[in-house]
Amino acid sequence: MRVLVTGGAGFIGSALVRHLVAVRGDEVCTADCLTYAGSLANLASLEGRSNHRFERVDIRDRTRIGELVADHAPEALVHLAAESHVDRSIEGPADFIQTNIVGTYTLLEAVRAYCGSTGRACRFIHVSTDEVYGSLGSTGAFTEDSPFRPNSPYAASKAASDHLARAWWKTFDLPVITTNCSNNYGPRQFVEKLIPLATLRALEGLPVPVYGDGQQVRDWLHVDDHVRALVAVLERGRPGRTYNIGGNCERTNLEVVRTVLKAVAARTGADETDLLGLIDFVADRPGHDRRYAIDGSRISRELLWHPRIDFEAGIAATVDWYAEHGDWCEVAAGTYAGERLGAPEGGTQ
Ligand SMILES: NC(=O)c1ccc[n+]([C@@H]2O[C@H](COP(=O)([O-])OP(=O)(O)OC[C@H]3O[C@@H](n4cnc5c(N)ncnc54)[C@H](O)[C@@H]3O)[C@@H](O)[C@H]2O)c1
Repeated sequence: MRVLVTGGAGFIGSALVRHLVAVRGDEVCTADCLTYAGSLANLASLEGRSNHRFERVDIRDRTRIGELVADHAPEALVHLAAESHVDRSIEGPADFIQTNIVGTYTLLEAVRAYCGSTGRACRFIHVSTDEVYGSLGSTGAFTEDSPFRPNSPYAASKAASDHLARAWWKTFDLPVITTNCSNNYGPRQFVEKLIPLATLRALEGLPVPVYGDGQQVRDWLHVDDHVRALVAVLERGRPGRTYNIGGNCERTNLEVVRTVLKAVAARTGADETDLLGLIDFVADRPGHDRRYAIDGSRISRELLWHPRIDFEAGIAATVDWYAEHGDWCEVAAGTYAGERLGAPEGGTQ
């Protein structure tokens, strides 16, 4: 399959691109403008492969995106390029509006123009988040029919992009499919997010910040399971449909951090009680959602996808990856430090 992947130098996008190129042998063009969160190191294993090319391009650049779509002639576009960190959206929402909303609009229009002028079909897989649905009480789970109640600028910008994707399907017949996925974890997630942050700080014996009382519940999914879900959607998803993707793995943030700290202790031989003592409760994030949970029955039933990776085993492997990739972490940490000069400490997803 000829696939154009936006945001393919980031955490989830690069996992998808590596899978499409190296495992499936697809013809992939990665389009990414390399913000602080994107890195070509994430695609280094694909160097020399004739079925992959990288283009440094901003998804808001209508001319260049139009040329790229015409040149690559994709049968599918998987759209992952986004500003993705909630804390940053609170400190400065402008980039989220521009990339997540205007960027998605630009891509939808570019693909619509390409299909219209060539008569070819191109599936548009719009990758979104469960955060569009807002916060749950102590019971229940988000279905694809749950109302949108986004609470952070990040979630609002993703919700807006989901609405655009739906409208381009309804109005223009563009074969759009939207996925709403829960929290991902795994190797190569940028160091500001909860699990890498906790891992790297624990490895250095530094305090590990946890927002508020740490009782916010998220559903966790390993990035490789998410990639398999996206491939299932790419192959068998129905245009116009949305699919929730989750890990059936609800954990409080405090439980997640404790699991990470125990994995660090198991790896390094450090005293577990000492590491758990690093937990540092910090002031809560404004508008912090209390609980997310995903009802993933549609994708299980219709596309036969199920999460496979056990959370504790996945965390142990993730901790190993960060401990063994100091060079990658150093570059990311350098970017992070440069970006965060003067900003308050913390930063959980
Ligand atoms: N990480 C999660 O837990 C999670 C969960 C559900 C959905 N998502 C969604 O999945 C997608 C990928 O998330 P991620 O965690 O890999 O994000 P990430 O921040 O790691 O990567 C985003 C990538 O997009 C690129 N990018 C940003 N702005 C761009 C622009 N204007 N033009 C071109 N490229 C640009 C960045 O350079 C980076 O490579 C996002 O749309 C996000 O909303 C993420």
